[in-house]
Amino acid sequence: MDRYAVAGNPVEHSKSPVIHARFAAQTGEPVEYTRLLVPLDAIAPTLRAFADGGAKGCNVTVPFKFEAYAMATRTSERAALARAANTLRFDAEGWYADNTDGAGLVADVQANAGFAIAGRQVLLVGAGGAAAGVLGPLLQQRPRRLVVANRTPGKAQQLVDSHAALARQCDVELQAATLEGCGTGFDLVLNATAASLHGGGVPVAGAVLARGALAYDMMYGPAAAGFLAWAREHGATGRDGLGMLVEQAAESFFVWRGVRPATAPVLAELRAQAD
Ligand code: ATR
Repeated sequence: MDRYAVAGNPVEHSKSPVIHARFAAQTGEPVEYTRLLVPLDAIAPTLRAFADGGAKGCNVTVPFKFEAYAMATRTSERAALARAANTLRFDAEGWYADNTDGAGLVADVQANAGFAIAGRQVLLVGAGGAAAGVLGPLLQQRPRRLVVANRTPGKAQQLVDSHAALARQCDVELQAATLEGCGTGFDLVLNATAASLHGGGVPVAGAVLARGALAYDMMYGPAAAGFLAWAREHGATGRDGLGMLVEQAAESFFVWRGVRPATAPVLAELRAQAD
């Protein structure tokens, strides 16, 4: 068996082990995937020990995505743009860092939810690691305009600056804004903040939503409940990040194994468990 894990803190509630177990069964790949609880000050030694023990790679989650990126010897373009990694592959030549979060989000929004991003107005709320991981792949879908709004506006501006060249190339109007001054009438509103984890409500006003908008929370489970209720209250279609989780896992599985598993049956199973 080839060993993999999800490394994070906290990590005990992660659904990644069950997702990868289903992918392994489906594809016949000899993959064993566990959880690795990493002390907050010890990501480097923990991952080194895991790799030295013969593991082939890992996913990295909160709060280690920036550090994981910094530990790699080679990176994908999308990880370099985010300066954060959620996927490491331990190769003979060194560690390869990738970021599959954006591809996972785009696949869930477009293929699973049936929402085409091209030509639309998009609001990305938040400017931490979660937002950084998805901004590049969102721009590549060529929305007409994308606004990054954050409580600390300087962090939104930094993200906009690091993605300015890509936005020009994709012909997207990319802007930074405050939570209060981000405007109205967005077709797609993405919540990439940790506000709900800290007991906060939805950090933007209902007026940000255009008629018939898709309101998407990158979290799932109880952490997404407040945002989904807010979406309903304002007449938008709400969607949580469970599909993004399954899609980013499939993309990581492909990075490791070169095989693309089917996501629909796994997402259906997780949804059935959640109901
Ligand atoms: P992650 O890596 O999961 O994105 P993070 O880097 O801590 O985590 O970022 C969390 C995001 O949630 C940030 O955009 C943060 O805003 P700041 O940059 O101003 O810190 C946002 N956030 C957290 N709590 C919030 C709250 N109560 N209201 C609004 N935004 C909040």
